[in-house]
Amino acid sequence: MGLAMLVLPVLLGLFYGASDINCSTVHGNTTDHRSLLDFKGAIRADPRGALRSWNENIHYCMWSGIKCSTMHPERVTVLNLANMSLTGQITPSLGNLTFLWELTLSNNLFSGQLPSLNRLIRLEILYLQNNLLQGNIPNALTNCSKLLLLDLSSNMLVGSIPGNIGSLYNLKGIDLSNNSLTGNIPPTFGNNTYLEELRLTHNQLKGSIPEDLGKLPNMGKNRAVFLGQNRLSGRVPTTLFNLSKLIILNLSMNKLRGTLPYNIGNLSAALQWLILGANNLSGTVPPSIGALKNLTVLDLGGNNFVGPIPYSVGSLPKLWKLDLSNNHFDSW
Ligand SMILES: *[C@@H]1O[C@H](CO)[C@@H](O)[C@H](O)[C@H]1NC(C)=O
Ligand SMILES: *[C@@H]1O[C@H](CO)[C@@H](O)[C@H](O)[C@H]1NC(C)=O
Ligand SMILES: *[C@@H]1O[C@H](CO)[C@@H](O)[C@H](O)[C@H]1NC(C)=O
Ligand SMILES: *[C@@H]1O[C@H](CO)[C@@H](O)[C@H](O)[C@H]1NC(C)=O
Ligand SMILES: *[C@@H]1O[C@H](CO)[C@@H](O)[C@H](O)[C@H]1NC(C)=O
Ligand SMILES: *[C@@H]1O[C@H](CO)[C@@H](O)[C@H](O)[C@H]1NC(C)=O
Ligand SMILES: *[C@@H]1O[C@H](CO)[C@@H](O)[C@H](O)[C@H]1NC(C)=O
Ligand SMILES: *[C@@H]1O[C@H](CO)[C@@H](O)[C@H](O)[C@H]1NC(C)=O
Ligand SMILES: *[C@@H]1O[C@H](CO)[C@@H](O)[C@H](O)[C@H]1NC(C)=O
Ligand SMILES: *[C@@H]1O[C@H](CO)[C@@H](O)[C@H](O)[C@H]1NC(C)=O
Ligand SMILES: *[C@@H]1O[C@H](CO)[C@@H](O)[C@H](O)[C@H]1NC(C)=O
Ligand SMILES: *[C@@H]1O[C@H](CO)[C@@H](O)[C@H](O)[C@H]1NC(C)=O
Repeated sequence: MGLAMLVLPVLLGLFYGASDINCSTVHGNTTDHRSLLDFKGAIRADPRGALRSWNENIHYCMWSGIKCSTMHPERVTVLNLANMSLTGQITPSLGNLTFLWELTLSNNLFSGQLPSLNRLIRLEILYLQNNLLQGNIPNALTNCSKLLLLDLSSNMLVGSIPGNIGSLYNLKGIDLSNNSLTGNIPPTFGNNTYLEELRLTHNQLKGSIPEDLGKLPNMGKNRAVFLGQNRLSGRVPTTLFNLSKLIILNLSMNKLRGTLPYNIGNLSAALQWLILGANNLSGTVPPSIGALKNLTVLDLGGNNFVGPIPYSVGSLPKLWKLDLSNNHFDSW
């Protein structure tokens, strides 16, 4: 008893903007409470004491890294324990926090499978990058239909990208780079109308780049498309060169072949980095490349380009890094 019991309801009252919180509700929604305790129980090391406040003297809505809803008091909306060096597993019980819109556990040492979070239909942000997660990306993740930002990069995920990823209709950014994903880039990405940023670098993806990626109206909008360091083959779809707001295009270290399209100058006027090195691209470099006035880095090295290097490359005003090595260009 004492101060804690007095202070806590007052604090909670402020927190919720509500006045009807009392001792009998201090333990709140038992489902959310139990889910968090279950999650805590699966943490094997907490060197920074991130969960020190996670005890019964404090309402779980005030535990560090937790935020609760103002509209639905007691329901957990945010769980953010990034950068805490936590070791353990991500328990399936988190799938019971059905009011969650942000789950951020990036830069920790979580291992094991990524549980199916299929009941988190309000989830908008899922940041689990830089952990040690293994196994597949669960198909049922696509049930989180409000997802805006998905970052699972730098884990040890295997298997293919869920074929129904296109049903994540609201997705704005996805980063699955630096895993061991195999299979194709699902053509259903073409359904992610709001997709702006796509990072799939450093996996073992094969097959061709889906043409529909270049038809997404927001694709690359002030952002990047990174598909480098995979096993992608076939031609670069000409549609990609139509992404008029792209800042970075990096397709390096694949097995892409064919010529650069004559409309390459139609690529974003905002484009700063064009990285196509270490592929098997051939033919001449279209002079229209000189229209990309904002280019600072142009890497065409390690391909099979032939013929003259267009004069227009020499007059790109902001270029500071140019790699044309290991091709068959006429000397300048
Ligand atoms: C405490 O909260 C419960 C459930 O919300 C409510 O039924 C009860 O009347 C409240 N008691 C007081 C003293 O406010
Ligand atoms: C607690 O959460 C469960 C599971 O989502 C839900 O069914 C229940 O209605 C919630 N209870 C309260 C009091 O909010
Ligand atoms: C999560 O919900 C399921 C039922 O939906 C239940 O069986 C399970 O015990 C819950 N887990 C926790 C930790 O609350
Ligand atoms: C975690 O670290 C990253 C990168 O250093 C930083 O951007 C982010 O704000 C940090 N997040 C938290 C919750 O500390
Ligand atoms: C998706 O979520 C809804 C609502 O919680 C649930 O009824 C349905 O079973 C889930 N679907 C899958 C494939 O998990
Ligand atoms: C790739 O992920 C591994 C862990 O799987 C990590 O150690 C490494 O730093 C990551 N590399 C990059 C470039 O992020
Ligand atoms: C993508 O859109 C097409 C046509 O709108 C539809 O038939 C298909 O089922 C969608 N795929 C996914 C994975 O949402
Ligand atoms: C482009 O992608 C490759 C392969 O992942 C990477 O090594 C390189 O650093 C990237 N370059 C830029 C400028 O981002
Ligand atoms: C590029 O966009 C223009 C205008 O939206 C369109 O007419 C043209 O067909 C597109 N080109 C390619 C190769 O997709
Ligand atoms: C280049 O872009 C313009 C303007 O968006 C468009 O009208 C034209 O069709 C594009 N050219 C090609 C070859 O895609
Ligand atoms: C070129 O880049 C600068 C920043 O370096 C930016 O302010 C400008 O808007 C860009 N130009 C275009 C046409 O996007
Ligand atoms: C690269 O393309 C040329 C044809 O342009 C082909 O002869 C050669 O086998 C290809 N090399 C690789 C490693 O795919």
